[in-house]
Amino acid sequence: MAEGAEAFDAIVEVGGGTGAITQALANRNPEARLVVFELSEQLADGLHARFPHAQVVAGAFHENVSVLHDLPPKTVVVSGLPFRSLPARIVRPTVDALADVLRADQARRLVQFSYRLRAPFAAPADFVWRRVCTVWRNAPPANVWELHGKPVSA
Ligand SMILES: C[S@@+](CC[C@H](N)C(=O)[O-])C[C@H]1O[C@@H](n2cnc3c(N)ncnc32)[C@H](O)[C@@H]1O
Repeated sequence: MAEGAEAFDAIVEVGGGTGAITQALANRNPEARLVVFELSEQLADGLHARFPHAQVVAGAFHENVSVLHDLPPKTVVVSGLPFRSLPARIVRPTVDALADVLRADQARRLVQFSYRLRAPFAAPADFVWRRVCTVWRNAPPANVWELHGKPVSA
């Protein structure tokens, strides 16, 4: 996950949780601006204390996405949200908000962690999924997926 976020000027993590991925992102990309969204206020407080240089946003990503209005073009979004088990009323606005962030620049992408072999969610029409790798040493084995905009034909 953290490897896929290298060479970007800003990293947005959705669902920071206990901070395991946040820590790897911060270690590998100390110069990048880091914004972390976390639904649970308690977990968000923990992330804020542990990563004082990061902007931690408590609450649902799709309800707070407006804080991302000034991101640099080279931004990567990293997510561990369990899309396949979330209710549609959460998945739909979350995917819409993610797609809006990615559409702002062709260089942007979503790096998504999933335990399933299927793509994490149906890609919007102007996006495509790529399965980057399977991490066999994770228990259970996990897949890293990347969502990016389809190339614009001339
Ligand atoms: C699978 S856990 C992430 C695990 C995390 N990488 C860790 O190391 O703990 C998913 C996290 O996403 C948060 N979450 C769920 N829905 C969310 C949403 N709509 N916006 C932001 N965070 C959300 C949950 O509270 C949970 O902490």
